[in-house]
This record gives sequence, structure tokens and C-alpha cells, in this order.
Amino acid sequence: MGKQIGILTAGGDSPGLNAAIRAVGKAAIRQHGMNVIGFKDGFRGLMQNRFVRLAPDELSGILTKGGTILGAGRDKPHKMDVGGTPMDMTDLMVEHVRDHQLDALVCIGGGGTQKNALQLAEKGVPIVTLPKTIDNDVWGTDTTFGFDTALGIATEAIDRLHSTAHSHHRIVVVEIMGHNTGWLALGSGLAGGADVILIPEIPYDIDEVASSIMARRAAGSTFSIVAVSEGARSRDAEQEEREYPSLDGITGDDAEAVIAELAQLRAAVRDSTGRLSRTLEEMTGLEARVTILGHVQRGGMPSPEDRLLATILGVAVADVVAEGGHGVMVGVSNGQAVTVPLTDVAGKRKVVPLDHPWISTARSLGVSMGDTPEPA
Ligand code: F6P
Repeated sequence: MGKQIGILTAGGDSPGLNAAIRAVGKAAIRQHGMNVIGFKDGFRGLMQNRFVRLAPDELSGILTKGGTILGAGRDKPHKMDVGGTPMDMTDLMVEHVRDHQLDALVCIGGGGTQKNALQLAEKGVPIVTLPKTIDNDVWGTDTTFGFDTALGIATEAIDRLHSTAHSHHRIVVVEIMGHNTGWLALGSGLAGGADVILIPEIPYDIDEVASSIMARRAAGSTFSIVAVSEGARSRDAEQEEREYPSLDGITGDDAEAVIAELAQLRAAVRDSTGRLSRTLEEMTGLEARVTILGHVQRGGMPSPEDRLLATILGVAVADVVAEGGHGVMVGVSNGQAVTVPLTDVAGKRKVVPLDHPWISTARSLGVSMGDTPEPA
């Protein structure tokens, strides 16, 4: 009898998920004679044992579809909301994996999913993961599928905002997703020719942002595009965050309370794109407008590049499972599928390095990153 594998998609959805499900499933069935099932709605479906059989018919015609045919969810196995109470349901999930006699559970998700998957792996579940997210922030892989599509959508939005900003001589502040990393805002800001790019990795100084806009004005440009990552924060906000108690040595309810407060603080900072726009209006005397791109960035058809990446990695997952591998994420390094131990990946975040070429390129073009420019 062939091996049995289960697939689930967890975290926020992202373009390329169906391409990955298709690739894992088709290669598992065709190349290795495996049987494939898919759990619905991420870890919740695994807990509730809600699954569908994924035969060639179910895997056909889904390559170009956005979202995920399996459904997704942000549940954490050790903290599932069960009737309003957070409960550790990992043991029940392990039981369901055993009931199905799964040789592998393939978890497709972002940073949070890698962490959740490791918890199940530590309970003996043979796990293989894939990295997807529009944020591109999963550690241990050059890139994640979903990112390229979102990059295209955000870039097109900036392109379109240019003509309206130009016509009305306005500042347009465009908020771009990316969670706590700036890959998407930086990439699309650079590709779309934004004049200011604000990312979480470089806390900004509002005076610098305003004076860069005024300098453009003085040079004859009557409009400015400010691409701001949803996680970007000012130096003052960053300072406030630093004053928060460190989580070192704090456990249990105390740690939960600090994390919750920190999340609130960050949410308040995120809500401040409107405030940023109003402040720039006051400081420059120019009219400003805000555009929040939101979930449009992760909806719809995956780009060819994301389809390719999801397909290459999905096929590699089937090969890893056939060889008996588990406890790993299948990522990409220099165009090749590579396995990285989950213990290395979980709990880490791939931020934009300050010496990344996208940052130096932006600076060379005179794009303000919201900090004090280095003397030439
Ligand atoms: O992780 C992907 C992402 O789209 C982030 O960019 C964003 O911060 C978050 O998910 C939004 O989450 P939700 O789908 O829960 O609104």
C-alpha cells in the first residue's frame, strides 16, 4: 500500500496555495503512488477531523485559483478556541493523524504555521512544511510564495496612485501589508517609484519625511507618494515599545498579558497611517490622502512566478515524504528546493537586512527611508 499524506493550509491565505496543494498531491499520487487527503480550514479541521480526499479530479483546474480550496484559519493547536475557551488540542490532532495512519502531514503556512507545526512534530507527528505568505518573512527560505503576486498588486496600485497624486498636487500615503517586515512595501515602493518608503526595520523621523517632501516641492515636484508598511513606526513609537517589559524570564499569564499589551500598542501604531497623513499635511501645507491596500494584496490569481515556486516546492515535498523525511520545511535557496530543520525555522522572522541592496538602491535614487541620510 502507498504512503498516506494529509495536507492543510494555515494562517492567512495567499496566492499560490492551490498551486502548492496541486503539486504536492499530483506528485504524491503520480510519482509515488500515495493517497492524499486535505484537512479543511487549517488546524481546526485537523482537530475536528474534517477532511476531503484529494484525488486527481480534485487537484485538477486549481492551479490558477486564488485562496485555498481547503480553507485556512489562524488557529494555534495549543490554544484552540473551543467554545470561547483557549485549549491545548494538540493531543487530539495527534490522534487524528494516527487514525488516518498518515506518513506525513504537510502544513502550508507562514511563520506562525512553522511554529505550530513544530509543536505537533515534537509530539511525534511526521511533519513537512512549505513557506507561503505575502509578507516574505519566513526564515530559512529565499522567498515565500504569495510574495511575488502581492508585489505585483501593490506596485500596480502605486503606479495608479501616481497619476491622481500628480493631477491634484497631493501627498498620497499608501499603506502596504507585510506584518512586521518591510519586504512588500520596500519592493513595491521601489518598483513603483515611491518618493518615501517607510518600513518597520527603519523607524522613521517625521521631520525627515516632511522635509524630504518639502525638498521635492522646492525642486518642482508638486506631489509625493509615501509607501508605508503596515508595521512601520516612528522613532518615538519604537522608543515606547522598547520601554515595554522584556519577555525574558516571564512565563504563563504574565507573559500573555505583556504580549497582549504589546499587540495593542502595535495595533495603535498601525492605525496611525491616517495620523501620519494628517501630520504630513500640517507640516508641509500640502493636501494628503490615504489609501490602504488591505486584503486586495493577497486575493486572486497567483503570478506565474508564485505558481512556479509553489509547484517546484510542492513536488519537492512529495519527494521528501517518499524518502521518509520529516521535521523539515522545504524552502528555496538559489532556485533550488532545500530542506531546513523546523527547529531552525520556528520562532524566527526574516526581516529586511539594513544592508539589503533594495535599501541602498532606494537611497541612491534619493528615496527617503524616513531616517537621517548618511553624509555623502
Ligand atoms: O500574513 C499575511 C497578512 O496579510 C499580513 O500582511 C497582515 O498583517 C495579516 O496577514 C492580516 O491578517 P488577517 O487576514 O487576519 O486580517
